[in-house]
Amino acid sequence: MSPLVQFRVVSVTAETNDAKSFRLRAPEPLSYKPGQFLTVGIPSDRGTVARCYSMSSAPHEDDITITVKRTPQGYASNWMCDNVSAGDTITALPPSGQFVPSAEDVDVLLFAAGSGITPVMSIAKYVLTQTDRKVALFYANRDPAAVIFAEQLRAMSKDHPERLHVVHWLEELQSFPREADLQRFAAVYPQYSAYTCGPAPFMDAVTDALNSLGFPHDRFKREVFQSLSGNPFETEVIVSEPGAEHARVKGSCNGTSFDFDDWPSDVPLLQYLLSKGVDAPFSCRSGECGACCFQLVEGEVDMEQNDVLDSDEIADGYRLACQAKPSSDSIIITYD
Ligand code: FES
Repeated sequence: MSPLVQFRVVSVTAETNDAKSFRLRAPEPLSYKPGQFLTVGIPSDRGTVARCYSMSSAPHEDDITITVKRTPQGYASNWMCDNVSAGDTITALPPSGQFVPSAEDVDVLLFAAGSGITPVMSIAKYVLTQTDRKVALFYANRDPAAVIFAEQLRAMSKDHPERLHVVHWLEELQSFPREADLQRFAAVYPQYSAYTCGPAPFMDAVTDALNSLGFPHDRFKREVFQSLSGNPFETEVIVSEPGAEHARVKGSCNGTSFDFDDWPSDVPLLQYLLSKGVDAPFSCRSGECGACCFQLVEGEVDMEQNDVLDSDEIADGYRLACQAKPSSDSIIITYD
């Protein structure tokens, strides 16, 4: 089982009237990729509820920072902003998520709206400081007061004038960005890899704009956050029917290889791997977030639920471990 991490809150910074950054220190250094998120446990009268918050920090920075924006009906985000102070402890699952920049040496085209800037900021900081690649950012907000990281972005533009191009889009002046507006911006960067995070209508408009421009699917990622319906903080006990068939699973995760031959056919792969001590990533455990995504190299699995992978990703062999049960005698997989 991946251990829960107890983070000490080092500082809390107000970014805007309704967004705060929480700088967190883990007991031991924690590795993560730019664009990933933490699944944070929030106390409530229903017990612990889990929420995913993207990191706005980049992996080379000393601490992990998550940035949280209040929403009118958002119990968890309001609780974070109202109750968490420096010196407190918060509990979270280790970082996870697939919204990470490609390892290829390709410049990046970023589209963010509102608090969708959070993982995008992590990617931008990583690319600018740890690579020679260029960054183009289209950032939409309601008005100037709503712009999270305005000062940081100004400083980054000053530090990297040849490699960072930021366009701020203000809806109070320019209305909601339409497909044609986004297309005009993206058309200048046809060879870049694109990433978008924000409200669904914004990401839909970005998707339409990139599709119209013929951006290949494998050079475009969108971050999908769903409310988590289950409680990933509860320990799951493996329950397998007597007589269930067993399959073999070989693979690697975080550079460590494994080979097990007693995976019960009625137990999800994630649950099985965690019971074997594999440090497999996860968050929701209910097919809603994509944190447990792995790639099939050989063999086949069935998935009970899939709210995140599209048909192209399925065709490329990606599957959700929390939903996968074996449909062949053996499979070979990779998380790396
Ligand atoms: S852990 Fe969220 S989809 Fe599997």
